[in-house]
Amino acid sequence: MSVGKEQQAEKSIEALLEEQRLFEPFEEFRRNANVSDESIYEEASEDREGFWAKQAERLDWFEKWDKVLDWSNPPFAKWFVGGKLNVSYNCVDRHVKTWRRNKAAIIWEGEPGDERVLTYKDLHREVNKFANVLKGLGIKKGDRVTVYMPMIPELVIALLACTRIGAPHSVVFGGYSADSIRQRVEDAESNLVITADGGYRRGNLLPLKNNVDKALEGNTLVEKVIVYQRGENPEKVHMEPGRDLWWHELMEDAEVYCEPEPMDSEDMLFLLYTSGTTGKPKGVVHTTGGYLTSVTSTAHMIFDLKEEDVYWCTADIGWITGHSYMVYGPLSNGASVVMYEGGPDYPEKDRFWEIIEKYGVTIFYTAPTAIRAFMRWGTEWTEKHDLSSLRLLGTVGEPINPEAWMWYHKYIGNERCPIVDTWWQTETGSILISPLPGVVSTKPGSITRAFPGIEADVLDEHGNSVEPGQGGFLVIKSPWPSMLRTVYNDDQRFIDTYWSNYENTYFTEDTARKDEDGYIWILGRTDDVINVSGHRIGTMEVESAFVDHPKVAEAAVIGRSHDIKGQCIVAFITVKEGVEATPELNDELRQHVATKIGPIARPEKVYFSSDLPKTRSGKIMRRLLGDIAEGRVVGDTTTLADPSVIEQLVKQQQSG
Ligand code: WT7
Repeated sequence: MSVGKEQQAEKSIEALLEEQRLFEPFEEFRRNANVSDESIYEEASEDREGFWAKQAERLDWFEKWDKVLDWSNPPFAKWFVGGKLNVSYNCVDRHVKTWRRNKAAIIWEGEPGDERVLTYKDLHREVNKFANVLKGLGIKKGDRVTVYMPMIPELVIALLACTRIGAPHSVVFGGYSADSIRQRVEDAESNLVITADGGYRRGNLLPLKNNVDKALEGNTLVEKVIVYQRGENPEKVHMEPGRDLWWHELMEDAEVYCEPEPMDSEDMLFLLYTSGTTGKPKGVVHTTGGYLTSVTSTAHMIFDLKEEDVYWCTADIGWITGHSYMVYGPLSNGASVVMYEGGPDYPEKDRFWEIIEKYGVTIFYTAPTAIRAFMRWGTEWTEKHDLSSLRLLGTVGEPINPEAWMWYHKYIGNERCPIVDTWWQTETGSILISPLPGVVSTKPGSITRAFPGIEADVLDEHGNSVEPGQGGFLVIKSPWPSMLRTVYNDDQRFIDTYWSNYENTYFTEDTARKDEDGYIWILGRTDDVINVSGHRIGTMEVESAFVDHPKVAEAAVIGRSHDIKGQCIVAFITVKEGVEATPELNDELRQHVATKIGPIARPEKVYFSSDLPKTRSGKIMRRLLGDIAEGRVVGDTTTLADPSVIEQLVKQQQSG
């Protein structure tokens, strides 16, 4: 049985690599596209700095830069050196000065069906008032503000207000647990947290404020917590006297204008934590001028943003996709952005299609995991709605299988919308590899080619560019404006993680393959990161959560392929002496991890074992665990200290 599965797995990879379908840009799309001439690639590669300088000119600068790029001290890049600007000014004020003042900036839909539209003028007023609130609480330029909120307009207002006064924000995804918040608040040394009493998910209010309260137990640094009232029972919300303040009360008397802080191009704009090889999430640092330049130009060219578009990115703002392509990229371009609070299947499985029809969404950006779920739910849900307003589709977060790509193309795009499969990372800040929809032909499953001004390649272990058809490590060979500047308070980790494999070359931690046409296909990650529904989860983080349970002796965690989620989490656990490995304990442990990290980290499957497969020097052989979890033939076991461990695990796997 396992042999058959192995062949199947290999067959599907082969099938992917042999994908021959080619979709040329639609003629009408090309004619009107923001980029309709391929020469942009050559021009940019001949003069990268010139290209990026031209992109930076899309922004309003208070003071122009003296130097486009300072790369004299790699890997520490400086972009637009000496330039001064403000992000909230670029995302709001400059639009308010034009006819766009009454254009919808945010078209918001709450999960229960409530609606709000904020024009650029509305957004300007709210951002200015809230910036004054922050200032009034003593928040200064450089102070890190932690934000833990549902998908409501106030989240965008809070972020823009932080940028207005130069206080870097650190957003913690609303699905994370109290422990995860605590870890991030402490690492960022925040003294202010902004949250809400809750946000709606499947009809229930998520207990965001309770999580914050738990996270702050014993914390002496956080002085104030601002709470937005989203729920209906404010009297039931615990408000810590002297610490917790209601958003609406603070806003009542706030002044309506706040001078935007002129920020240095290299001043920190925000921190965003992401998973890596060790158990401790890294605080990815993004700065002001380069980041805004990259997200503004990529949003303009890749999503082909036009004045009349209605743009919807379904990502939560708790992830980088939400930062760059829900908030900063589209707003800097003056777009109308749809924002939705809840899940795709609540109250019914057509909620997304209903929203597209209702607001006439023209550009739709989502993740492969969502597309695979839509496929499974079937076309009865899409057929109920008029999706003819759509003109461009995007995908992000994980490799998209060609079947899902074709389904997206056929049933959502009605075979007339280009699809942009956008590759990037929390660390890259903006999309680095993606087709430009007016000029690049697409192949289902390929991220195609690097954005103009980006030098991507696939290298072998010696640093040589691989031959067409070969696989290797995906790298970026020269700096780009929105690249992370460091890991917060940990330059060494920044250097070790991204810059130690090849000289002055950014290591993405992804493996990829280049085909005969130079198209890039992502194969997977090289580090101990599992991509669950497009979310990065570190195996070490999950292992730490397991061993934190009093009954667990040892844990090894790996990723296994999953039809909808792409990958899911599988754990191998040994329990302590005298503990019985019961089905109840199995459930308890899975719940324990969900409580420690957040529901997204809940393991799909836990195997109990009397021991884990280790080498004689004590190293856990994850490769073998991967074989077992996938039901493949188990690889070479000769280096194991005790090969009988494998038999025991295989038996368990086969019995389900
Ligand atoms: C990792 C980054 C920034 C987007 C959200 C995820 C994988 C991302 C693609 C894509 C194949 C992709 C990579 C990357 N990934 N986009 N279009 N095709 N894989 O951001 O959490 O920082 O994860 O997601 O493995 O390294 P992230």
